[in-house]
Amino acid sequence: MADEAAVSPDSIKPDSIKPDSIKPDSIEPGPIEFIDLGAQRRRIGERMDEAIRRVVDHGRFILGPEVGELEQRLAEFCGAKHVLSCANGTDALGLAVMAKGLAPGQAVVVPSFTFAATAEIVAWYGATPVFADVYADTFNLDPASLEAGIATARRLGLDPVGVIPVDLFGQPADYDAILEIAAAHGMWVICDAAQSFGATYRDRKIGTIGDLTTTSFFPAKPLGCYGDGGAVLLDDDAPMAVLRSLRVHGQGADKYDNVRVGMNARLDTMQAAVLLEKLRIFADEIAARQLVAARYGALLHDLVRVPEVPDGLTSVWAQYTVRLPAGVDRDRVAARLKAAGVPTAQYYAKPLHRQTAYRDYPVAGNGLPVSERLAAEVLSLPMHPYLSEAVQDRIVDALRAALRG
Ligand SMILES: Cc1ncc(COP(=O)(O)O)c(C=O)c1O
Repeated sequence: MADEAAVSPDSIKPDSIKPDSIKPDSIEPGPIEFIDLGAQRRRIGERMDEAIRRVVDHGRFILGPEVGELEQRLAEFCGAKHVLSCANGTDALGLAVMAKGLAPGQAVVVPSFTFAATAEIVAWYGATPVFADVYADTFNLDPASLEAGIATARRLGLDPVGVIPVDLFGQPADYDAILEIAAAHGMWVICDAAQSFGATYRDRKIGTIGDLTTTSFFPAKPLGCYGDGGAVLLDDDAPMAVLRSLRVHGQGADKYDNVRVGMNARLDTMQAAVLLEKLRIFADEIAARQLVAARYGALLHDLVRVPEVPDGLTSVWAQYTVRLPAGVDRDRVAARLKAAGVPTAQYYAKPLHRQTAYRDYPVAGNGLPVSERLAAEVLSLPMHPYLSEAVQDRIVDALRAALRG
């Protein structure tokens, strides 16, 4: 097994995983887990219990020593100069836009094909999310639609101040193009890396690309805790003092004098302890996910549209989402898979600009046809680092049978 204490994303190549580092826990027939946290627990449970017990014993449940240690370890892992942990990925986005001074009258371009939090935090501050379209092959923000979204915002008399690209399903967005457009328009870039912590974009790691990057440690994320958690990652020194203050109600140097309106967005010490243990095996788990994705791709590409990762990028495969052929009844396929013991999910069955809370916000240009098409075609398959080849084969066979009708 790789030295768990010393692993970094670069130190583990997919083909360097030794068979005993990944236990084929799901090999026996029976229910297939969409995300098998139990298998991970069987691997590191003992150490985890000790780590949790240490927190119970020292009793510093809020901003205890594990929080600072985690922030340092996360920074080392992703190469960002600073990491500010926080309560969840939504608060991480909220803190980031607050640090940017987001206000009414301003617009932020966000993809429509994402989780609600990306747009929600723009609306929190009375600003306007402008929904943009995505690429069909990578599911990520289409720079041409970003340009259209900026024009739409201006036409509506709004000031387009920022863009929040999302690294959907674990794969980095098209950052070279997005950063160039944002720079040309004087806009900030906050990378929503809730699903992509640990991924790489050309020679850069996620966490070092935009002005600020945010991530989530929700249990189902590639690096997930045992509850809610998140972080803001950044290289710039300047926003750190403000972010730290915002995380604790806008506290000033004198803790009884709050100098700005903030929030209560601290990460629990217990969750930090959990994440420290999980971080030890994270690079190994990413490599295992990449093996699963590569094998899925080889076995599924003649059945469905499999996700594409452009050259020079790596994904952490938060989800493995395929596109069913046009005209296929997705609910029927999902029901057949369920009957065969294969759980699936539809990320995302409704783009944000079609959802009740968001449908009155503007969309870029003349509509978002790709997001709408994807929402009708996508199906996410079980994906986690402990998915044995035998179980992968069962999933592939079940999908083949379900598609046959
Ligand atoms: C793209 C994206 N952004 C933000 C979030 C919010 O993260 P959290 O659930 O930790 O608040 C999520 C969570 O699923 C997400 O997928």
